[in-house]
Amino acid sequence: MSAKVITVVVAARPNFMKAGPVASALEEAFEVDLVHTGQHYDRRLSGAFLEDLGMADPALNLGVGSGSHAEQTGGVLIAFEKYLLDRKPSAVLVVGDVNSTLAAALAAAKVGIPVGHVEAGLRSGDWTMPEEINRVLTDRLSCWLFTPSADADVNLRAEGIADDRIHLVGNVMIDTLRSLLPEARERFDDVAGRLGVAGGDFGLLTLHRPATVDVPAELARALDGVGRVSAALPFLFPVHPRTTARMASAGLALPAGIIAVEPVRYLDFLSLMDRASLVITDSGGMQEETSVLGVPCLTMRPTTERPITVELGTNRLIPADPDAIAAAAAEALAQEWTAAVIPLWDGRAAERIAAILREQFDSGPSRERGLCS
Ligand code: UD1
Repeated sequence: MSAKVITVVVAARPNFMKAGPVASALEEAFEVDLVHTGQHYDRRLSGAFLEDLGMADPALNLGVGSGSHAEQTGGVLIAFEKYLLDRKPSAVLVVGDVNSTLAAALAAAKVGIPVGHVEAGLRSGDWTMPEEINRVLTDRLSCWLFTPSADADVNLRAEGIADDRIHLVGNVMIDTLRSLLPEARERFDDVAGRLGVAGGDFGLLTLHRPATVDVPAELARALDGVGRVSAALPFLFPVHPRTTARMASAGLALPAGIIAVEPVRYLDFLSLMDRASLVITDSGGMQEETSVLGVPCLTMRPTTERPITVELGTNRLIPADPDAIAAAAAEALAQEWTAAVIPLWDGRAAERIAAILREQFDSGPSRERGLCS
């Protein structure tokens, strides 16, 4: 009998570190189709990540590209449905919370193919974030909800999701971090030399969310706040294309000590995060990575869908206010930090997902149907 096909969907930069370990764990028992929606298409945000993670080239790229939320979501919905009708995989796995995650889950659910959501159950409670809408709806469409932490299980139960669909497996992005950290560390001297922070302490800054960068006055305040810190501690700032465009149209210049660089590939970025004295960000995943690395992280957002990084990790939420940023940075830099120990963030989350799916498919089609009804 030939192996069942499971399709793993990737779309945007943060997806690759989550999908990589899952695709490779599934390969032992299934035929895996990697499908790229094309939401991110720059080499710096896509191809370089596949290379660093040792992932195969996607079997198919839907080529959806940039656009409004409706254009991006609609584009994936239409193109992915065609693929599903032709290929008829036994299941589709989606990761994270980007527009393509929701679109692929919706296309699969509508044609009756069971969906698994990796990184299910995270909630910021902030319905103005496009990612929050994507998370809630993707979870509702999914048969298998693979959660990274117990708070996610609580969120899902509160939304009425049955227990037998919720699987606490741990954090797949931390699988990738743990397996590639030794290689990243070997690169540090070279990376730091290339980016101009060799031989000294430095901070790392990333800002890309619409809520942080789309209003010029708010972005200016955020940069002004980091500027107060960078007067004494240089900050490397790999700039996302959205942020580059917003800074250019608003005519914003960077304060002294913030060094703008192109987006950085995974291994190089991990090597920098690991050695940074302080991280300031509005990213989701970096809250988790810095916690595991024991590096203090100030997250410039009013809410987080990853509260465990505040409870057990190194993460603090701060407003985009210059005084608050400077005060929080001084406090974080004065403290000693250690790597967080978070249950099941042990590098084996993808293995657990593969074992659950193997058991599921071994127990026959009636069980598969039953779960999704
Ligand atoms: C998307 C995700 C966000 C994730 C982020 C990581 C949604 C709603 N947002 O945001 O959750 O944290 O990816 O980067 O899905 N662009 C390029 N090259 C590319 C892709 C985009 O230059 O390869 C530019 C385009 O001008 C585009 C803009 O960046 O309009 C924003 O891209 P988009 O995919 O819409 O969202 P992100 O801000 O990247």
